[in-house]
Amino acid sequence: MISLEHIGIAVDDAAAVRACYRDLLGVLPYKTETVDVQGVRTHFLAAGSAKLELLEATSDDSPIASFLERRGPGIHHLAFNVPNAQAALDRLRDAGYTPLSDTPQPGADGKRIFFLHPKDTHGVLVECCEEAAYTPDQHTIPFRDTTLAAYTAGARHLPPLLLLHGAAGSVETELAGLIHRLEAHFRVVAVDFSGHGQSPFAKAPFGPDLFVANARAALDAFDIDTAHVFGFSMGGYMALEYAFRHPKRVRRLAMHGTTVSWDAALVRGMQRRLRPDAVPSPVAASLDTAHTDWRRLFQTMHDWVPALPEASDTMQAHAQALRVPALVSGNDRDDLFPLRDVLALHDAVPDSRLAVVPSARHGLQNGPTKLLADVLVDFFQPTPAP
Ligand code: CO
Repeated sequence: MISLEHIGIAVDDAAAVRACYRDLLGVLPYKTETVDVQGVRTHFLAAGSAKLELLEATSDDSPIASFLERRGPGIHHLAFNVPNAQAALDRLRDAGYTPLSDTPQPGADGKRIFFLHPKDTHGVLVECCEEAAYTPDQHTIPFRDTTLAAYTAGARHLPPLLLLHGAAGSVETELAGLIHRLEAHFRVVAVDFSGHGQSPFAKAPFGPDLFVANARAALDAFDIDTAHVFGFSMGGYMALEYAFRHPKRVRRLAMHGTTVSWDAALVRGMQRRLRPDAVPSPVAASLDTAHTDWRRLFQTMHDWVPALPEASDTMQAHAQALRVPALVSGNDRDDLFPLRDVLALHDAVPDSRLAVVPSARHGLQNGPTKLLADVLVDFFQPTPAP
């Protein structure tokens, strides 16, 4: 779907304009970036469903410099998201519009962009932009006698938010899209659990002791004392355990697609997904890049999940003992953890809020990401009073 991505505003005094929008919106830019090809320095502000892009000229021959000279500071362009910039450019040129370049150009935020001449668009300069593949900044942090792969995004002045992925998942394969949508609002930290993604295995066995220690190590590595915490699937269970063990370090807690009601049938369903010989070869090829040793990961996870039914009483007791504001969410037709499990967790956590996302699969890669990101922003960051 084509949607308004941002409004570009030409500024001659960036400091004064930042102060103005801080007064209006209560936020500072979450990202500043210089785009040499365009001769601009951009400052991005979160403004609800779209962004504001403040544009400063970096040279006298910058298009922004000539705009400021002709028109003075003010609204410069509207930018719309398109799924494929080259296809959109070809389609619009064929329809009689005048693209200002023959091909899409590199823009801020890793995007590919082009502009349409305002003579064809009733006086408004229109930008079309295609979202780039997104990867957050990756770091190697110490963990006991080994290391972890940790990821950060978003400006340091924003509220910290820790994201935890699911069993046999990783930040890159499950959370990258969510991080991209959340980086305007939070200082995001995420970590590949030991043996997952780009993190090596640790000596300790899989389980909450290890994975909660992973989560704590990630926040400690970036000097973050208290944070919002979000977990998906098994990451939700670890978020719950983290909040139970470190209640003073958690501001608000959200769990998506998480069950605390394991039984033998669920264990069998989970184990079916974790048999290396049952993985079709194209999936195996992508797992080779997703994890350092996915066969060992799947086997270790396969051997651990039978312990979960016995641990379910403890999980439920910990859920009932939570005293931080909590959000429980799930997919309405999740093919792994049925919605009734999500509702049971919601019932267990005192005063928790509930969100249900319409999606048929147990995952975050496809449909639910945008809706879930909006729900999380709303839950973690209640809009400040104007
Ligand atoms: Co723009």
